[in-house]
Amino acid sequence: MKIGIFDSGLGGLIIARAIRKVMPEYDYVYLGDTKRVPYGNRSHEAVFEFTRECVDYLFRKENCAIVIVACNTASARALRKLQKEYLTPSPFGHSPLAGGEERKILGVLIPTAEECVKFESIGILGTRGTVDSNTFPVEIRKFNKRAKIFQNSAPMLVPLAEEGEMENAMPFIKEYLQPFINKKLDALVLGCTHYPIFKNQIRKILKTPARGVLADIKLISQDEIIPKKLKDYLKRHQEITKKLSQNKTARILVTDMTKSVQKLTKKWFGQNIKPRLISF
Ligand code: DGL
Repeated sequence: MKIGIFDSGLGGLIIARAIRKVMPEYDYVYLGDTKRVPYGNRSHEAVFEFTRECVDYLFRKENCAIVIVACNTASARALRKLQKEYLTPSPFGHSPLAGGEERKILGVLIPTAEECVKFESIGILGTRGTVDSNTFPVEIRKFNKRAKIFQNSAPMLVPLAEEGEMENAMPFIKEYLQPFINKKLDALVLGCTHYPIFKNQIRKILKTPARGVLADIKLISQDEIIPKKLKDYLKRHQEITKKLSQNKTARILVTDMTKSVQKLTKKWFGQNIKPRLISF
């Protein structure tokens, strides 16, 4: 069985690539919902419905033993409900999946919140959906009761990234970081799959002398966190790990195929894997 990685678009490939680097032995299948990205400005209901469709596909059609919901918006809006749906035994004594096999669904929000334990003043940059859900502050306070938390959404960064227009992002990044200036932040969470792409630009802005107060800030980036957390999880959950096949393969599935999808897949996953178009 495989490890499934799901994202609303292609940004999650950066996390997928980092996971595969740490654990190359397993078989991976990535699903990017490129037809419906971005999720960040959609209703709670739509995000849940789309996420359920994608996760279900990975379980039923791709035979995944575990699915990582790499998308923060989906982790905030849909994860708990999906975990309940898949993991709660049905009245017939098995999970809703055929065969009653137990599967796992993990998100990226809680592992990221755990990383915030040592900081006092924390900024969260996320999509509108993630910020409005207030999930990051709630989860961070479970590990760090006294944290001062400030949030801002960065709605233009995902479309710019998915279009491959990273170099045009600077004015937007400046604007989105503005509310954090003078907050004496110790850490800034890049709370969206696509933001690590802008890491250097974000660092550059934070380091300009006029923004000196933010110069030493720690950037909390999920591509640096999730692989290790997943590795630890798999060590602790042998009931899942023992089901995973180890042929070192990776496949990329998308719900819409464009030139930009093909280009970015190669750029962000770092390998020449041809994405395959699927439909539900
Ligand atoms: N993947 C989503 C996330 O991490 C961002 C992209 C979107 O808005 O769909 O929040």
